[in-house]
Amino acid sequence: MAKNLAEAFKPTSYKISGHTPRNVQVLKHALEQVDGEMLSDLYGKGEVIENFQHKMADFLGKEAAVFFPSGTMAQQIALRIWADEKQVKRVAYHPLSHLEIHEEDGLKELHHIETVLLADETRVIELEDVTGLDKEIACLLLELPQREIGGQLPSYETVEAISDYCRKRKIRLHLDGARLLEILPYYQKSAAEICALFDSVYISMYKGLGGVAGAILAGDVSFTETSKVWKRRHGGDLISLYPYILSADYYFEKYKEKMGHYYQDALQLAEQFNQCPYISTLPETPVSNMFHVHLAKPKDEIEPILVEVYEETGVGLTSYTRESGGEACYFEVSIGDGYGDLPKAALEETFTLLKEKLRDRG
Ligand SMILES: Cc1ncc(COP(=O)(O)O)c(C=O)c1O
Repeated sequence: MAKNLAEAFKPTSYKISGHTPRNVQVLKHALEQVDGEMLSDLYGKGEVIENFQHKMADFLGKEAAVFFPSGTMAQQIALRIWADEKQVKRVAYHPLSHLEIHEEDGLKELHHIETVLLADETRVIELEDVTGLDKEIACLLLELPQREIGGQLPSYETVEAISDYCRKRKIRLHLDGARLLEILPYYQKSAAEICALFDSVYISMYKGLGGVAGAILAGDVSFTETSKVWKRRHGGDLISLYPYILSADYYFEKYKEKMGHYYQDALQLAEQFNQCPYISTLPETPVSNMFHVHLAKPKDEIEPILVEVYEETGVGLTSYTRESGGEACYFEVSIGDGYGDLPKAALEETFTLLKEKLRDRG
């Protein structure tokens, strides 16, 4: 029986997206050099958590930072704090924000916070969307990069102008910076420079930064102290978070300087995809290590072609495709360490074959 896409992808020798596989070795590596006598954190206290929080606060240029088990928890809490502060239970964000489409309405169900969706699903939030708001909001959340549209970004000047406008209007500005480090090479800014435009910031420790799980929420001390109270209320104050913290720290050090490389790799790879028939990337020219590959053919026509390419080359491009309208599909590419291991000749062979097969069956 013919293999499906995920089955064909699994045994490929090279995978273009991500770091090494998410297996237990990821944690084992991170702990190899750690002194076994090091004391665990206890309900948010202790050197292991406090040192890492200070380190991340410095890196982000904020007064304080708190380690959370998940970004989902951290961001709902951030928005709740800003809504309580202003006594306005309304916030604004993009229609494809993680909170809107991946969190089972946690913000609405748990916190009874209403949302205003800014911009349409095809583009990022611009200044005019914010100045055109006709309802009072406590906080605006910007997701940089906007993951569900291929990791697009507004211009840096736009982010500055939105920040300036929000400050003048007493609207808190929160950064969903799940992939903050990944956009630094494009903006040519430090994390602290970008974070200075925001009142509160979340970054993920397990996406481009490769940890096991976890998130950092940063801001001024009164904000982070309140966030700790909410963390406890949410059951996020685990007695010990050190496996996540130690791995976050290890992989932060390992990957933080590599984002420039990954961005350059993404530029090259997107160019290759864009030379194939029926394929275009979004954005056409990536602005980070990620982009989406759109295929103007139905999933059931594309997937068998990809399976053949994987079996002939040993190179895996994706384990899935998602339908986008009846006759088209797409997948996400996010460059990490894996791409660097891929020999140039294998990559060339992959694209030559892909082009041929798409042309032949077109
Ligand atoms: C943009 C964005 N924000 C927030 C989150 C939530 O992170 P977590 O999985 O840690 O809850 C994600 C996770 O994929 C994300 O992509």
